[in-house]
Amino acid sequence: MRVLGIETSCDETGIAIYDGERGLLAHALHSQVDLHAAYGGVVPEIASRDHVRKLIPLLDTCLAEAGCERGDIDGVAYTAGPGLIGALLVGASMGRALATALDVPAVGVHHMEGHLLAPLLEPDPPPFPFVALLVSGGHTMLIEVTDIGRYRLLGETLDDAAGEAFDKTAKLLGLGYPGGPALARCATDGRPDAYRFPRPMTDRPGLDFSFSGLKTHTRNLWAERRDSPGAQADIAAGFQRAVVETLVIKCRRAMQETRCGHLIVSGGVGANLELREALRRAGEKAGWQAHYPRIEFCTDNGAMIAFAGYHRLAAGETEPERIFARPRWPM
Ligand code: KG4
Ligand code: ZN
Repeated sequence: MRVLGIETSCDETGIAIYDGERGLLAHALHSQVDLHAAYGGVVPEIASRDHVRKLIPLLDTCLAEAGCERGDIDGVAYTAGPGLIGALLVGASMGRALATALDVPAVGVHHMEGHLLAPLLEPDPPPFPFVALLVSGGHTMLIEVTDIGRYRLLGETLDDAAGEAFDKTAKLLGLGYPGGPALARCATDGRPDAYRFPRPMTDRPGLDFSFSGLKTHTRNLWAERRDSPGAQADIAAGFQRAVVETLVIKCRRAMQETRCGHLIVSGGVGANLELREALRRAGEKAGWQAHYPRIEFCTDNGAMIAFAGYHRLAAGETEPERIFARPRWPM
């Protein structure tokens, strides 16, 4: 079975074709970063309109790369949520229309399930069961995964997501958009221990997260020290270290509680090199292994949606002929 994947939940247009026997045949991505940079964040209406412009050309690029035609598609998977409603509707409408025209099934995929399964696209995928740390702009979750479709939430953020905290802190420090990569770059020139930062919710049991206090702490520190030499880089480095260590402490705890031997890390913040290295070291010490998708599949992409959709369709899942999009959708 050959499944077309469509991702349009936020500011990346992603298209991919996954074949059940041959694996990922092609993927194409268009990032809208330049369009939104001037506004310091994603403008929903601009995002929707750009998805409309880019979807069909990306589909044609992907089909050419995979060496197939529209008629060779056996099923369509599109991101049905969570995300920006206008942006989701563009991908969902195209996915549903294409499936109807080709007379093949379509299925709406949960964006976070896409992230969760992305590491399974790599050559050396983790065996089940594993623990997933999902860290994106909208979510921070720890999930125990016993099989595809069998997920148990272990913990999640009570306020800001990790990526959101990166983005807001980058904006505060005048580092522009998108914030995560900009802050990480700035942090390479700073001293992570120049100032003291809290490690929120690590002093009590449980696997939930909270990043809004850390953001407030950083705002106050910046207001106090912004004129000190090197403060911007030092604060970026200290903030990043605090987020990374907090995530590592909770992952260590989750691995201990579930006794799983494998951890996967996915979502945009999973592209953070300091986090990847810290989790690799923590696993080495404690006897578990950390897995990541390649960097380009950490952030939003069509490949993870094609892959998740393939598994749903292969399991016989179908949905009625309607356009299905949910801006909020618990996993
Ligand atoms: O998964 P993603 O592409 O979109 C969502 O589903 O939200 O994640 C985007 C988030 C943004 O908050 C971005 O700042 C963050 O991931 N991010 C990073 C890095 N690259 C992307 N955060 C920290 N370090 C990075 N290198
Ligand atoms: Zn995402």
